[in-house]
Formats: sequence, C-alpha cells, structure tokens
Amino acid sequence: MNHVEKILLSGLLLGLSSPMSGAFSQTASAAVDGKAVFDKNCSVCHSVAPPPKSAPPIIPISARYHQKISSRSEGIKRMAAFIKSPSEDKVLADPQAIARFGMMPPVPLGDGELTAVATWVWDQNSSGKWGQGPGAGRGDCIKQ
Ligand code: HEC
Repeated sequence: MNHVEKILLSGLLLGLSSPMSGAFSQTASAAVDGKAVFDKNCSVCHSVAPPPKSAPPIIPISARYHQKISSRSEGIKRMAAFIKSPSEDKVLADPQAIARFGMMPPVPLGDGELTAVATWVWDQNSSGKWGQGPGAGRGDCIKQ
C-alpha cells in the first residue's frame, strides 16, 4: 500500500467510527431520550428547522408554545396531550397548519415517551440561536 492509499484508508476508518460511537452513547442512557423518540416517531413529518417536510418544523412550533404559555410544565403537558390525540381545539401553535398540512394523526406513545418528546420539543426554543431574542419572530415561517 502506498502512502496516499494509507491516508485514504485511515480517513475512511475515522468516518466509519464516529457515527457508531453516537449510536452507542444513545443506547447507554437509561432515561427516555426525547430526541431519540422524535427521530423515531416524528421526524418523518417534522423537520427541526425550516424548510418543512409534511408538517410545521419543530423550532417555530416550540417558539409559538413559549409565546402562548409561560409555564414550562403546563406547556409540556398541553403538548403531550396534543401529541397523544391531536384535535383542532388542542392546537396552540399554528391553527392554519391544519389547512396546509392536514390534521396530525395520533402518535401511540407511552406516557414516559410522550413527556420526554414534549420536553425535547419545548426546549428547542430556548436552547440556542432561536431563543427569545429577535429570532423568536421566526415562528412566522409556519404561517405561510
Ligand atoms: C404523519 C405526520 C406526523 C407525525 C408522524 C407527527 N406529526 Fe406533529 N404534526 C403533523 C401535522 C400535519 C401538524 C400540523 C397540523 C396540526 O396541528 O394537526 C402537526 C403539528 C404538531 C404540533 C403543533 C400543534 C399545535 O399546537 O399547533 C406539535 C407540537 C407536534 N406536531 C408534535 C409532534 C411530535 C412530538 C411527534 C412525534 C411524537 C409528531 N408531531 C409526529 C404531522 C405529524
């Protein structure tokens, strides 16, 4: 094997090992991981940030929940109730989304998973660049 081939091979090995270590660290945690629940049950329809897939993206939804409800526990409770059995009267973030995307079907999850995923969605608003600053107005992109 020549020098160039060796470099290529080591790059390939590095590339292969990093996603695997990610998978291991996820299964290692005993508590329900809201992000993992999201990836498995919600990400088919919901992107995290715009552009949307077949549903409004999560960060603008989260921002809208924060605008309408100040209590974290109340917000998470309301969101979990919506995910368990979505209905028009439970919609809080974006009533117009129903006309654009249709009503979300209920997602059959256990209570632990429901709370974990609702907590993860709630926290997407406060955990970075989309926080309560000028970026909070980005919720507008689900109005279109
Ligand atoms: C089959 C596609 C689909 C899946 C799967 C799905 N959703 Fe949705 N979701 C939608 C659509 C469409 C809307 C917008 C219409 C509505 O409000 O029902 C929506 C809206 C929402 C809303 C906003 C409700 C509001 O107040 O406006 C939240 C929160 C939400 N989804 C969370 C989730 C979570 C968490 C999961 C996974 C556990 C999930 N969704 C899985 C399609 C989906």
